[in-house]
Amino acid sequence: MTGEELREVMRRFPAPVAVVTTELDGERFGLTVGSLVSLSLKPPLVGISIGKDSSSHEPIRRAGGWAASLLSGAQANVAQHFARSGIPPVALWNGTDVREGSRGPLVNEALAWLECSTVSEHDAGDHTIFVGEVESTELGFPGSGLVYRGGEYLPA
Ligand SMILES: Cc1cc2nc3c(=O)[nH]c(=O)nc-3n(C[C@H](O)[C@H](O)[C@H](O)COP(=O)(O)O)c2cc1C
Repeated sequence: MTGEELREVMRRFPAPVAVVTTELDGERFGLTVGSLVSLSLKPPLVGISIGKDSSSHEPIRRAGGWAASLLSGAQANVAQHFARSGIPPVALWNGTDVREGSRGPLVNEALAWLECSTVSEHDAGDHTIFVGEVESTELGFPGSGLVYRGGEYLPA
């Protein structure tokens, strides 16, 4: 069983899309994720799985917290932007519609926002799972969300 075979299966399974951001020493980091999951209500916990080779991995670890902007069906361009690897952290923010948050930039026009402090980290092969306690939430655009399936972004 290979990672490629797993990827082939998971391509069929629609994943909701979010942008995870953090801020460390005045520098902002962000990436598109399909791994955001609600884990617990009491206490309110969510999880993300972040690739160890992502340029956001160490900043998320060191910052001790992160924000998630849950993308709307109209934000496929935002998802594409934050999924491009190798962009220098400063250039990543050029032309993006974001505002300041307590844990990292928040993408405007999203469905909702979560701000989290990391309560545990779990080694998961080439990724680390970060479990965050949700410190604050805000609701935004009330329409459709964005899912990724078969290499395409679709409103759902
Ligand atoms: C739909 C979609 C979902 C993704 N989900 C994740 C994820 O959950 N975790 C992750 O580490 N990378 C995920 N990625 C890949 C990152 O967005 C991408 O590798 C990131 O922008 C890397 O940039 P960097 O290597 O410059 O840090 C996803 C990409 C796409 C298109």
